[in-house]
Amino acid sequence: MRTLELHTVPKTVGETPELMQAVVIRKEREGDPIDAMRVEEVPVPEPGPSEVLVLVMAAGVNFNGVWAAQGKPVSVFRMHKDPFHIAGSDASGIVWKVGAEVRRWKPGDEVVIHCNQSCGQCPECNGLDPMACSEQKIWGYETSWGSFAQFTKVQAQQLVPKPKQLGWEAAASYGLTYFTAYRMLVGRAQVKPGDNVLVWGAAGGLGIFAIQICKLLGANPIAVVSSPAKIDLVRSLGAEMIVNRREFGFAKQPVETPEQVKKRMDETKRFGGELRRLTGGKDPDVVFEHVGAETFPTSVFVCKRFGKIVICGATSGFNLDFDVRYLWMRQKEILGSHFANAYQAERANELMMSGKIRPVLDQVFDFAETPLAHQLMKENKHKGKLGIRVQAPLP
Ligand SMILES: NC(=O)c1ccc[n+]([C@@H]2O[C@H](COP(=O)([O-])OP(=O)(O)OC[C@H]3O[C@@H](n4cnc5c(N)ncnc54)[C@H](OP(=O)(O)O)[C@@H]3O)[C@@H](O)[C@H]2O)c1
Repeated sequence: MRTLELHTVPKTVGETPELMQAVVIRKEREGDPIDAMRVEEVPVPEPGPSEVLVLVMAAGVNFNGVWAAQGKPVSVFRMHKDPFHIAGSDASGIVWKVGAEVRRWKPGDEVVIHCNQSCGQCPECNGLDPMACSEQKIWGYETSWGSFAQFTKVQAQQLVPKPKQLGWEAAASYGLTYFTAYRMLVGRAQVKPGDNVLVWGAAGGLGIFAIQICKLLGANPIAVVSSPAKIDLVRSLGAEMIVNRREFGFAKQPVETPEQVKKRMDETKRFGGELRRLTGGKDPDVVFEHVGAETFPTSVFVCKRFGKIVICGATSGFNLDFDVRYLWMRQKEILGSHFANAYQAERANELMMSGKIRPVLDQVFDFAETPLAHQLMKENKHKGKLGIRVQAPLP
């Protein structure tokens, strides 16, 4: 078999074509996702001894696909040596071939893929945390052979069982952001019942899960969003305290006059006042950060004394400029967090399998529309998660 049609599953598990369709980024066309990503035919990869080839039924769109297409802030071609980049760090699919050392999975198993790769052999992998491995990489971002292709090659430890109640598209939509939010709130910030948790971008990929995790932990999420449609979405997830950030002018600009700084601080205080009004006079115990430059000074300011700001990203810029007096005088902590280890992914997936946490798949796109889906994400014209149908049947 030379190629395989989209939306089909070969009758014989393991039967593999020579070539596959993949959404490819090349160095010479880095830029807006709509131009940088193109469907091409490439060879199907062969799994190594501890790797698995998965037939991709559906893939999930993440912000790292936008970074990869743009080649900014870092080109993916500085992170790996492959001549082209297949992005995509979320997928659901069928185990198609397994390497000689793989014991936990067999061809035919239905799986979801988590995106952390590590060497599996160093002391960090075996005693500390695979996220501390010096070879740790995010599959489909720092490596090629991601999920926007008919087949993907992953480490066997990246697989978790697919929740039976979910369709392929929904199952492909949650791994990266949900497992990241789980580590941030459960592992790093150790949110407790009764905590007030300020969640930026609450209707976005991370936020939809942060809200649900807070509710499950008995904490009180304060959801920040930017439109009425997003207010409805976060309310449907259980958020009761909701703020529309468009009503406040606290966004930090790269260069500001003293008057602008004063105006921004006045708005930040007004925002803090609104949070206290919602919580009955309390400041957030934890701030869930991933917006970066524009919001970080506000996060540090509004966080409670001795509170925690947990951060995993910087959509609006990674050079954070904030008044550190509010951090040290009030003894707050900043916690960096990055994806999750396999154990955290497995534990979080169990909550998904039991239906205690649910995916929020807002739109599904055809495989050829993968660039468009990323463009919408870049322009913040989406909510919840966006899915890509690959081998899953058309509705
Ligand atoms: N380190 C990791 O493991 C990891 C994992 C996942 C994601 N990330 C990073 O985290 C970030 C968010 O990811 P995501 O999947 O949640 O993206 P997303 O679906 O685009 O959601 C981000 C949300 O942030 C809000 N936002 C955007 N610009 C903003 C601004 N200037 N001020 C305030 N809010 C703003 C938007 O909500 P409103 O417009 O409604 O406010 C948007 O819905 C990305 O930079 C991503 O690369 C890192």
